[in-house]
Amino acid sequence: MTDKATLTIGDKNYDLPILKGSTGPDVLDVRKLYGDSDHFTFDPGFTSTASCESKITYIDGDAGILLHRGYPIDQLAEKSSFLEVCHLLLNGELPTADEFAKFERNITYHTMLHAQFDSFFQGFRRDAHPMAVMTGAVGALSAFYADSLNVDDPKQREISAHRLIAKMPTIAARAFQYSQGRPFVTPRNELSYSENFLRMCFSVPAEDWVPNPVLTRAMDRIFILHADHEQNASTSTVRLAGSSGAHPFACIAAGIACLWGPSHGGANQEALEMLEEIGSVENIPAYVQGVKDRKYKLMGFGHRVYKNFDPRAKVMQKTCYEVLEQLGINDPLLHVAMELEKVALSDPFFIDRKLYPNIDFYSGITLRAMGFPTNMFTVLFALARTVGWISQWKEMFEDPSRKIGRPRQLYTGATQRDYVPVDKRG
Ligand code: ACO
Repeated sequence: MTDKATLTIGDKNYDLPILKGSTGPDVLDVRKLYGDSDHFTFDPGFTSTASCESKITYIDGDAGILLHRGYPIDQLAEKSSFLEVCHLLLNGELPTADEFAKFERNITYHTMLHAQFDSFFQGFRRDAHPMAVMTGAVGALSAFYADSLNVDDPKQREISAHRLIAKMPTIAARAFQYSQGRPFVTPRNELSYSENFLRMCFSVPAEDWVPNPVLTRAMDRIFILHADHEQNASTSTVRLAGSSGAHPFACIAAGIACLWGPSHGGANQEALEMLEEIGSVENIPAYVQGVKDRKYKLMGFGHRVYKNFDPRAKVMQKTCYEVLEQLGINDPLLHVAMELEKVALSDPFFIDRKLYPNIDFYSGITLRAMGFPTNMFTVLFALARTVGWISQWKEMFEDPSRKIGRPRQLYTGATQRDYVPVDKRG
């Protein structure tokens, strides 16, 4: 086994150290390549580039494996709770009972928002997309919690992390209630994280809110399934924004903005809208033909990393059945989804391209059954992913080799030329 690779450019050889992780592919270290050889590497979309070293999440896309700090996602989704997973992602280990009690208390006692923050929501139109509200509101946290913005102080980093995990449900619920024209609901400290969130979303002053353990468990599981996913687009955005020393709340707002896109977090909304557009099982063959004719993509299918079943999709599918059964809903879209999955998984177009359902395929049906409108789906994703973003951000600050992110480019534009006055152009 060699610990270096040799790159030959013209008549010169360059040694590239090979770095080994604890599992997964080895990595060619090209950090000195430009200095030594005057060449950049070219990798738009970062399909072959590791942008950082990380100990948080491991994905083997070919085998359909997702591990957080070594623990398989299906075990966490079955046996753990979202707050326990938050502790695991942030601190590296599952908490002891005492550690968990302290962590839970810390999060619980940070859930309220500054009273003046509530008036901030009034500035948005009621019909604004809640992701637009989230991007603005989370960015504005820097203006309200200026005592935890020193990114070089580990204690302040921890307080900001706890504030974010604690306040995201309150902000997300306010974004939802505001869009519905309903009054804001204050968090209750005796409720669990997910129960509190559902109450803040669905409780109205006119009647008592009754928790439903199946829905609370489903919400918690959905949060666990979305908690982190290594160096995806939004996480890389958070790391890149944070690499300049920007405030944590501003970095998370950048992550939310990136997540909003339909190829990333916006896909769950699009997947449900696609199922609605298909409408019934008879329309599936024509729709699939349209995908093959490249008129549109099958939303909720395919993944940059998973070229096998997305392990989160299996848990999501099970959660979907549980929720629909509990609520006694016979949703025709579930039949469309199941049939579409069957058709796609037996069609060479999808088999050859290794296109499998991703987590978004079943999450939309589940969330809709729970009472969330489609434009809230990505908000829930952002809420859950906040712990992943802030854990990755924290890890970046703990890495002594941290540098400001500064990709290079292959320039193909005009070479140097002289300015031409307007009357001489033509
Ligand atoms: N439907 C139809 N064809 C697809 C799909 C799809 N959903 N996804 C990929 N393909 C095809 C591409 O057209 C391409 O075909 P070609 O080789 O004949 O040109 C081939 O499969 C490979 O696709 P790439 O674009 O190279 O795959 P990439 O890894 O860049 O894209 C992505 C991944 C963006 C997720 C893509 O699969 C997609 O757009 N899926 C739909 C949106 C979606 O569900 N996103 C959620 C992602 S999961 C998440 O963010 C939680």
